[in-house]
Amino acid sequence: MTTLTILGLETSCDETAAAVVRRDADGTVTVLSSIIGAQFELHAPFGGVVPEIAARAHVEAIDAVAAEAIRVAGVEFADLSGVAATAGPGLVGGVMVGLAFGKAVALARDLPLVAVNHLEGHAVSARLGADIPYPFLLLLVSGGHCQLLEVAGVGACRRLGTTIDDAAGEAFDKIAKSLGLPYPGGPALEALAKTGDPSGFALPRALLGRKDCDFSFSGLKTAAARLAEKITTEQDRADLAAAVQVAIARQLSERTDRAMKLYAASHPGQTLRFVVAGGVAANQAVREALRANCADNGFSFDAPPLAYCTDNAAMIALAGAERLALGLSDGLDAVARPRWPLDEAAALSNPSNIFGRKGAKA
Ligand code: KG4
Ligand code: ZN
Repeated sequence: MTTLTILGLETSCDETAAAVVRRDADGTVTVLSSIIGAQFELHAPFGGVVPEIAARAHVEAIDAVAAEAIRVAGVEFADLSGVAATAGPGLVGGVMVGLAFGKAVALARDLPLVAVNHLEGHAVSARLGADIPYPFLLLLVSGGHCQLLEVAGVGACRRLGTTIDDAAGEAFDKIAKSLGLPYPGGPALEALAKTGDPSGFALPRALLGRKDCDFSFSGLKTAAARLAEKITTEQDRADLAAAVQVAIARQLSERTDRAMKLYAASHPGQTLRFVVAGGVAANQAVREALRANCADNGFSFDAPPLAYCTDNAAMIALAGAERLALGLSDGLDAVARPRWPLDEAAALSNPSNIFGRKGAKA
């Protein structure tokens, strides 16, 4: 196997991102560049991502962001061994922009194209910072997703649990909005929580007593929004932010504990590894709670470097490199998929999930 130099493209939400990643024959990974053009200020007035605005902004930015990724990496298009573009799941207008750009580069330069599942990008993201062998237990926790997965290798994920309503990042964002914090709410809420005391507010604990690994955050969101309407002082605001952060971290930790026990039982005698990835993995309280799970259950703990927790193209390039190394690539007829579960069998086995109305989104 030879060295692979891959251009990665990510446009599935509100970041226009491009990166160049090198994967050596021995599996060593080097991020040569990772450029992220965030659209925060375009969406901030609306308190959330507006799909049409995002798609247009991707069209305007993608050429310059990709050119910058090539320039900073110090390579030429001729040095590339392949192009990897997010093909879903996500806001389809944006996904189409990055995928079409990737196809154009692949066609013009006669390069293989890899149509990458955005979630697979998050799944490999911790491997950008450390050599973490497969298999591992993954908590993928972001603005759009909240899942526990057994990751046996590239394209080999088994889902142990998922959210039946909102993702944890979505809960952070929506509760932050009701606290009057700017978008994106997760980092702002974490900053506010630093000066708060979580003990003053009792928030609901969802799905207590259930034996599965599913999540639910809508009750917490509603309860927090009601409390936010009543509070008057700055200290109350900080206290509520702290209580919300504790409640989200606690639920992530409780379900992860169950998943760890299931995983350990199905991997007897094996090294137990845990990885948390996705935007919410940037949250220090969440990391601390999960580290405690790892200590209790004998798992190693890994998370991507902070820059690769939230959406980026380096993780897409690495997922593409890992696929190409296995001889996997896609045709120029690859389609943009707004919904694309990592574990299709788990999602499709129950499209109208008995726990809610959720279809096979992810
Ligand atoms: O992975 P990501 O960039 O996008 C998705 O694929 O969804 O995750 C973004 C999410 C947002 O909901 C954001 O509020 C949340 O991650 N987030 C955080 C923090 N940083 C980002 N949530 C809590 N604490 C943080 N420090
Ligand atoms: Zn993401």
